[in-house]
Amino acid sequence: QVRATAVSQVAVDDLVELLVPESQRPAKHTEAEGLPSVAVSDIDMQWIHVLSEGWASPLRGFMREQEYLQCLHFNSLRQPDGSVANMSVPIALAINDEQKKELDGKNAFALKSPEGKVVAILRNFEIYEHNKEERCARTFGLTDERHPYAEIIYNSGDYLVGGDLEVLEPIKYGDGLDEFRLSPRQLREEYKNRNADAVFVFQLRNPIHNGHALLMTSCREELISRGFKNPILLVHQIGGKVKGDDIPLEVRIAQNKRVLAEGVLDPKSTLLGIFPSPMLYAGPTEVQWHAKARMNAGCQYYIVGRDPAGMKHPNGERDMFDPWHGKSVLSMAPGLEKLEILPFRVAAYDKTTSKMSFFDPSRLDDFEFISGTKMRKFAAAGDTPPDGFMAPTAWKVLVDYYASKK
Ligand code: ADX
Repeated sequence: QVRATAVSQVAVDDLVELLVPESQRPAKHTEAEGLPSVAVSDIDMQWIHVLSEGWASPLRGFMREQEYLQCLHFNSLRQPDGSVANMSVPIALAINDEQKKELDGKNAFALKSPEGKVVAILRNFEIYEHNKEERCARTFGLTDERHPYAEIIYNSGDYLVGGDLEVLEPIKYGDGLDEFRLSPRQLREEYKNRNADAVFVFQLRNPIHNGHALLMTSCREELISRGFKNPILLVHQIGGKVKGDDIPLEVRIAQNKRVLAEGVLDPKSTLLGIFPSPMLYAGPTEVQWHAKARMNAGCQYYIVGRDPAGMKHPNGERDMFDPWHGKSVLSMAPGLEKLEILPFRVAAYDKTTSKMSFFDPSRLDDFEFISGTKMRKFAAAGDTPPDGFMAPTAWKVLVDYYASKK
């Protein structure tokens, strides 16, 4: 189930970081005071964070129309040297009619956080129509306004503005979790400090159960069997906005820490981190973004399993995406050639061994499938999951969270 190919590390020089050097910040702030300004949303701030640290590199700011079109139609951006960079989800800034009028004819404007602080300047910008239905259809494969990110798009302005972004301060949250928000550059340094000879990454937006852990430990074993001596695992939680019934970031991090403390994952060879992007719920389109961003952060191997970045259709009747399209698409995606995709089968609870195992269809009745929704229901009811499903103190974090909500 693992495809073997040679992998080369991405050079740090490829990283396009958009944070203005400290020495230039006072002058830029002074300039920003004289510019028109646009107040951005929390999600826009998350994208500014993403752009500032180079996760979306080679993108140099919010997408201009040509970039937006390439993204929507090709899931990638053509580079000046003819190469192709994967870029599957639009990183676009919406503005309304009034804001457009204020910006028309200008060269640059300031971006203000929801708290009113100047955080960035957007230069040499262009404004274009925001066809929301088309954007949703092409990104999510549906136009249903109940989809969590489609809802955000439908509620945003009728124009998009793209240009060169200059971010004036590092984006910090002051929520006690900033230490987990290592930038791509810092992550690359961390792998070096740890003498990693291979780096593999696991993207998630859920607590870690033993099925997830099985994917990660299997991947590690595979790398060891290929001769790597010190593979480092990056367990990378989505840090931006998630849908209402997903578990909040601080609870997920607390839970993940318990999984490490209980030794389900080896703390010595595992790094717990936060990826600042919001979650889009765009399935096979989004998993490319998840992988590309981690490639920029120096990861060489990307774990993918069942239904990445998927969810139930808002009509509640079916999954939005074929659960296996994510890994198929990822293995074929343009511009991800430097990343090796490690696809895994579905893990389920094997009642005969009381363990999470890879599903064996010849023993269908021996297995119980525990989806994210089912897991959340169990925890919300204060129930104990089957033995061997999750480290007990990690489970307690979830039960306590739901109890505190009541
Ligand atoms: S995601 O939205 O971040 O992709 P999630 O946190 O549910 O969602 O999953 C993280 C990763 O684990 C994804 O690669 C997903 O495919 C994989 N995964 C989740 N549950 C299972 C499972 N039971 N079996 C195999 N892979 C799984």
